[in-house]
Amino acid sequence: MGEGATPPEAPPRELLLTGPEVTLTIPLYARALDYRSRHPILGDRKADEIVRSVDFDFQRLYRSGNRGVLVVRARQLDDWAREFLRRNPRSTVLHLGCGLDSRVERLEPPAEALWIDVDLPDVILVRRRFYRETPQHRMVPGSLDETGWLDGVPTDRPVLMIADGVLMYLTPASANALLEGIAGRFPTGAFIFDVMNSGAIQRGNEQLGGPNGDVLRWGVDDLAELDRAHPRLRRTGTLSLFAARFLPLRYRVLFTLTVATPSLRSAIRLVRYEF
Ligand SMILES: C[S@@+](CC[C@H](N)C(=O)[O-])C[C@H]1O[C@@H](n2cnc3c(N)ncnc32)[C@H](O)[C@@H]1O
Repeated sequence: MGEGATPPEAPPRELLLTGPEVTLTIPLYARALDYRSRHPILGDRKADEIVRSVDFDFQRLYRSGNRGVLVVRARQLDDWAREFLRRNPRSTVLHLGCGLDSRVERLEPPAEALWIDVDLPDVILVRRRFYRETPQHRMVPGSLDETGWLDGVPTDRPVLMIADGVLMYLTPASANALLEGIAGRFPTGAFIFDVMNSGAIQRGNEQLGGPNGDVLRWGVDDLAELDRAHPRLRRTGTLSLFAARFLPLRYRVLFTLTVATPSLRSAIRLVRYEF
């Protein structure tokens, strides 16, 4: 190194996130623990690498009961996404509220697909420490409260929108405008995401609520209402997370009562819409 040259800066180890952004640590940690477990459901090595490489008290927000549910949610959405990409290799994938999720690496999309990870600017800044952008994989800083980030996204092909643990952080008006805004721009496509009912939103806010108030804002009790609000979308998949097929037996036993109680069964549901 020449005289006066400064050594390259090591990437910061701290994960300095606040607001809804910090919630990305919950599923990230769940995936890392799953990777370390004897029988992983998702087997996400990248999550483990990221968790090991940063200074953050992951236990702060994490509840041990979350692991199976969060990882199964990711696995089911991966499955639906793979199916879509098999049928539509030349598509645009909008991975909304991507956090530090390695879904793009888990799925290895076809070369003709364009994958776009979107999250708030502070998250994309951190994400760039762990992921490299390529012509087929972009990382876009933006708020899902508006659709300006969609400008410049190719809309001449089918779209797959994936939102894993994300839309409940938006207001009902923003969430509906987002679904409407994306469906209005693309010729065909599918939306896959999870919704929480109002009971789950309330319990979630009791766990996550900080000095700035509630972070979870969009609860859906009646999916038929969501269907009616979006006549262009056709619901082609509905699944209670507590009855998902990837749930290991021990969780199924644990959730026997949950599944038998309608308000708990619908606490977190995965849905797929097509248009
Ligand atoms: C629970 S985390 C889920 C992260 C990721 N999907 C995963 O499974 O690891 C919620 C994510 O939504 C993002 N988010 C919340 N509100 C947002 C908004 N208005 N615009 C964009 N992203 C938002 C957060 O920054 C965070 O990354």
